[in-house]
Amino acid sequence: MSITELPAWRALAASASRLTNSRLTDLFDNPERNAKLQLGVGGLYFDFTKQRVDDNVVHQLLALADDTAVGRRAQQMFDGEKINSSENRAVLHSALRGGANPTAGVSGEVNDVLQRMYSIAQRIRSGAWRGCSGKAITDVVHIGIGGSHLGPELAVTALEDHHTTHLRLHFLANIDANNFRACTRSLNPETTLFIVASKSFGTLETKQNALSARSWFIERTNAVDHLGKHFIGATSNVSAAVDFGLYEENLFPLWDWVGGRFSLWSAVGLPILLALGEDNFEEFLHGARQIDRHFADRSGAENIPLLTALLATWNYNFLGANSLAVLSYDQRLRLLPDYLQQLEMESNGKSVTLDGQAVDYHTMPILWGGVGTNGQHAYHQLLHQGTRAFSADFIVVGKDERHMQAHHDWLLANAFGQSQAMANGFQAGDGESHRNVPGNHPSTTIILDTLSPRELGALLAVYEHKVFCQGAIWNINSFDQWGVELGKELAIPIYKQLSGNGTLPQQDPATQRLIDYIKIVRSENT
Ligand code: F6P
Repeated sequence: MSITELPAWRALAASASRLTNSRLTDLFDNPERNAKLQLGVGGLYFDFTKQRVDDNVVHQLLALADDTAVGRRAQQMFDGEKINSSENRAVLHSALRGGANPTAGVSGEVNDVLQRMYSIAQRIRSGAWRGCSGKAITDVVHIGIGGSHLGPELAVTALEDHHTTHLRLHFLANIDANNFRACTRSLNPETTLFIVASKSFGTLETKQNALSARSWFIERTNAVDHLGKHFIGATSNVSAAVDFGLYEENLFPLWDWVGGRFSLWSAVGLPILLALGEDNFEEFLHGARQIDRHFADRSGAENIPLLTALLATWNYNFLGANSLAVLSYDQRLRLLPDYLQQLEMESNGKSVTLDGQAVDYHTMPILWGGVGTNGQHAYHQLLHQGTRAFSADFIVVGKDERHMQAHHDWLLANAFGQSQAMANGFQAGDGESHRNVPGNHPSTTIILDTLSPRELGALLAVYEHKVFCQGAIWNINSFDQWGVELGKELAIPIYKQLSGNGTLPQQDPATQRLIDYIKIVRSENT
């Protein structure tokens, strides 16, 4: 049976018709409603009052969570059942931070790896780890892509105030040689350490970048016997990493029950540990653990990840929002939209149910975003006067951590003013329709008390559990990503044609013309 036939779904559809002409501003006029829609946990404050819901809709959404067994499915996840059915894997990333998985039986091995991570990080950070010429490490290049990149770079960037190291951290993800060049241009190979992070150790970009890094290192040092002092790795495919040339003693295992986009809490997060040090990294894990417990223990109406997911479902499936704008009003969180794009869209951009049936409802819409206030001078025009429905998450930090109060006051004033404009809109006088702002767009404002490891860990874990809840409601597998495979396969024969290896079947006419055009351009340039 499709979820659209559930009583709660039907009730919500009726409510959506009932609320078609309702204004957010009218809904605000209810202190009891508003009190229930403002919740806090772990240094985070969630203001859901600007969502287009009344009490009735919230009850129906909670009924939808019951009808779709979100709670039972969450328990299955925490217990280590193989809920990633297409890959026959458990989903236990919360065990990496000692979350809500007492029965899953993995805490021993998690702790062993964590202690090894702490030990190597201590040696690298203190200068005890020496490179090929006996010098201490000054620069660390993390090679990885997707889930093996976005989380670590976000956390390292966002938590710059909490770095406790002289090490400079760099990230190399794209296969584009311009990325390789920009990353390595100013590095000294004798004092550079590469971390190759790839769960599968089969990812094209990471393997190519690691190969080029190895050549770059050997060409400049001639120290082929000292590769182990400059390359370490995190992978669940140890044999492929060893075949590639990494030393087994320099490898940190990943488990198949950690999905790539949930792996920043594991050895993939080594750059975070190197930047922050052990105590801050513990705080980061602690923040996420608090959310695991909150998510496992709190009843529906007080459960922040669940409410976040339910309100998103209301927006996407019933109010017609076809994008989610993540608006970070904090420069340090500029990479948050990129990270969430993978987390939410790779997880829930699916169109078949767990039983293999085509869905007859929408799943994850486009998630995009950027930093405020910059976006106000770019795409906010469309948000305020465009024709499409959307919802927005505003993320702000409460404390003025730079001690530049005018900047901070203006930043927050703009964030709150923008959510106000999206909610309330503006009606200009006669003959001035070009100034009208329709408003009535739903948004959530999330305030982090400070931007510390603990709050960041908590924020990311809220979004992780939101993703889980949405997948459960939509009855899809949030933990696989088969859609990315086709493009990878198609690139192989095209690569062979471009590199001129062998005789290959022609591509479709459109693609063949692109390849032929490149060959002409290249021949003209040489
Ligand atoms: O291609 C998508 C993907 O598989 C992501 O899910 C993953 O995070 C990324 O590639 C990198 O994969 P790996 O860690 O195996 O290199």
